[in-house]
Amino acid sequence: MARAGTAPSQDKAFLVLHRLRKAYDDTLAVDDLTLEIAKGELVAFLGPSGCGKTTSLRMLAGLTPASAGRIVVEGRDLTHVPPYQRDMGMVFQSYALFPHMNVARNVAFGLEMRKVPRGEIAQRVVEAIALVRLTGREQRRPSELSGGQQQRVALARALVIRPSILLFDEPLSNLDAKLRDEMRTEIREIQQRLGITSIFVTHDQVEALTMCDRIAVMHQGRLEQLGTPEDLYERPATAFVASFVGRTNRLKGIARGDTVETGGLSLRTCGTHQGDVVVMMRPHRIVLGEAGCVSADGRAVNRMTGCVIRTVYAGDVVQSDVRVADSIIAVEQSNRGSGELPAVGATVTLSFLARDTLVYPAAP
Ligand SMILES: Nc1ncnc2c1ncn2[C@@H]1O[C@H](COP(=O)(O)OP(=O)(O)OP(=O)(O)O)[C@@H](O)[C@H]1O
Ligand SMILES: [Mg+2]
Repeated sequence: MARAGTAPSQDKAFLVLHRLRKAYDDTLAVDDLTLEIAKGELVAFLGPSGCGKTTSLRMLAGLTPASAGRIVVEGRDLTHVPPYQRDMGMVFQSYALFPHMNVARNVAFGLEMRKVPRGEIAQRVVEAIALVRLTGREQRRPSELSGGQQQRVALARALVIRPSILLFDEPLSNLDAKLRDEMRTEIREIQQRLGITSIFVTHDQVEALTMCDRIAVMHQGRLEQLGTPEDLYERPATAFVASFVGRTNRLKGIARGDTVETGGLSLRTCGTHQGDVVVMMRPHRIVLGEAGCVSADGRAVNRMTGCVIRTVYAGDVVQSDVRVADSIIAVEQSNRGSGELPAVGATVTLSFLARDTLVYPAAP
């Protein structure tokens, strides 16, 4: 298991998907998926249910044949290579452990299938179980373990093969929030320590943002954007990415230069635009209160008054909906414990910077 930890290299071409496509009778599950992943990178496939994440992963693993396109690893075309010769490990949402085998046998199974010598199997199983912190539980059956522990066994079983690529399909979605958090950190730590190039399928944006080097956002079988968490959040390429990654207000309007007329408001925006557009603002970038936000030149601030129509106390944050002219704008403030929630019916001032607006052409 001793593999040197490697930082993602600059050369992105360790794993290449080229125009990958999967058509079922009546569905185009994956359409023209092209991307390059560097050695040692952890890349998330993020998108709503049915967007083609699992299908993409299964094509990579060789479990679903591609309708068109190529899968290349280190220059070798694997498109028609059977799964067991692809040197990839897979971890599923359902764990897929053998219920009648104990932890050690579950972990050893893949090595036995590969006819690895007995002594070496024993050694590697001990190492893999230690890596996922299950030492001492080797003799238990899956039914005698918690969900988190079962997922660790599934991870050990994938790692023990020493694959060059690890594929995760929503491995944490059956776990409670706290355990999911712990497992994220742990998987990331192991992945970086071993330097294993990995793809992590999730529909949870927080998971993708916090764990991964880069994120591929998918929508209806297509790649919408591939970038670092910061790229996606700060500079979403499309309205879909903006609304899927992070929360957004979404207002329809008509743009002329750096101004958008929307629902009785005139907003100063980032960049210049023309015609029908949607303007988006992150609720937490909007400041409530008289003082408001300031910009160096004073011009690039949108300031307006409105009426609070709803306030939700959510612990860490307080969320309010404010009616401004003909629009409703969601605002989120961190809860600093001052004890004052914006009261329903109160008149409040909102402000946000032009540079915190995101503007996209309206869908035709
Ligand atoms: N074997 C199949 N036969 C026909 N259609 C399929 C098959 N497998 C998947 N699909 C369709 O392909 C599309 C993509 O499915 P896929 O399982 O890849 O989505 P997903 O992004 O993994 O979704 P989820 O988040 O719900 O797991 C869906 O419309 C699905 O109904
Ligand atoms: Mg899926």
